[in-house]
Amino acid sequence: MGKIHAALTGIGGYVPEYRLTNQILESMVDTTDEWITSRTGIKERRIQKGEGLGTSDMAVHAVNELLQKRGIQADEIDLLICCTVTPDMVFPATANIITDKVGAKNAFSFDLMAACSGFLYGLTTASKYIESGACKKVVVVGADKMSSIIDYEDRATCVIFGDGCGAALLEPTTEDYGIIDTIMRTDGSGRVHLHQKAGGSVKPASHATVDAKEHFVYQEGQAVFKFAVTNMAEVSAEIMEKNNLTSEDVRFLVPHQANKRIIDATAKRMGIGSEKVMLNIEKFGNTTSGTIPLCLWEWENQLKKGDNLILSAFGGGFTWGAIYLKWGYDSK
Ligand code: UT7
Repeated sequence: MGKIHAALTGIGGYVPEYRLTNQILESMVDTTDEWITSRTGIKERRIQKGEGLGTSDMAVHAVNELLQKRGIQADEIDLLICCTVTPDMVFPATANIITDKVGAKNAFSFDLMAACSGFLYGLTTASKYIESGACKKVVVVGADKMSSIIDYEDRATCVIFGDGCGAALLEPTTEDYGIIDTIMRTDGSGRVHLHQKAGGSVKPASHATVDAKEHFVYQEGQAVFKFAVTNMAEVSAEIMEKNNLTSEDVRFLVPHQANKRIIDATAKRMGIGSEKVMLNIEKFGNTTSGTIPLCLWEWENQLKKGDNLILSAFGGGFTWGAIYLKWGYDSK
């Protein structure tokens, strides 16, 4: 019997309805549509509105859509991994809340935090459960309600992030499809450039931390940019070389959507044209764990069995990596 691969067999997605446009941001902070568009490529982002709604509520939409499209029941899921930096609560895991809300009563579930690389870390982890034969149906959710940790008085961060979520189903196949190779990297010393200062065990929430706005994203944009642009491009080229893929062999680059300039540099390093790059940053901004599954969700109809995809990300941690994925089905 051939080696078992973990194939992606379905995609679901969800973005909230409310559109926070660059024009609206111009009335909130000292910024311009021109600055945001030229520096990031973002035109608008979605924001989850509504009292008592969190990351799990977006995920429920995406998972239910995925199950419905594939015609499977929630109780068939063996494992659900939720990749997020904006969990509903510090504990329990948002994955536990999602499994309860969708009725995945036979699944075990856990959260995985790798910031913008979360979905790639999640796929890599899930693939091991499939390849070992331990699980037959694994759902990987990439979901973030970034608006819950953004200071809408800080123009350096509030123009970048948005809310959104995607979910992928992984199943075993002995055909040569699915996750073929992964390269995952971590450099924890990068934490000084991108983090949330308070609310963890080092600095628990207090009146002082709230007053000092320490529960919001802290980002040294330029420093992060330098690491991101180099490492995302390098790891994407590395996985191509490792698997003897030329630029002609690659059907699509599926990049984390943090900044169009980072994505352009990655595509250039890989030698591929813009027609082979999934790009939706102008509509959704940076949804952290949500960006890559939201791309797959939007492009699913264009994908054909056997298409070679390179998924690539860089984010907080620092974490980064790339996945070589052979698409496993013809979408309608
Ligand atoms: O997804 C996870 C990882 N994160 C990333 O990959 C993000 C990487 N970083 C970036 O994408 C970019 O650094 C940013 C988009 C965050 C910022 O772009 P930049 O070209 O690096 O700008 P900058 O931070 O160097 O700021 C340039 C100028 C500054 O003004 P001065 O000091 O030159 O007068 C900023 O104060 O732009 C100013 N600025 C703004 N102006 C208008 C910063 N934010 C804004 C804004 N509107 N929203």
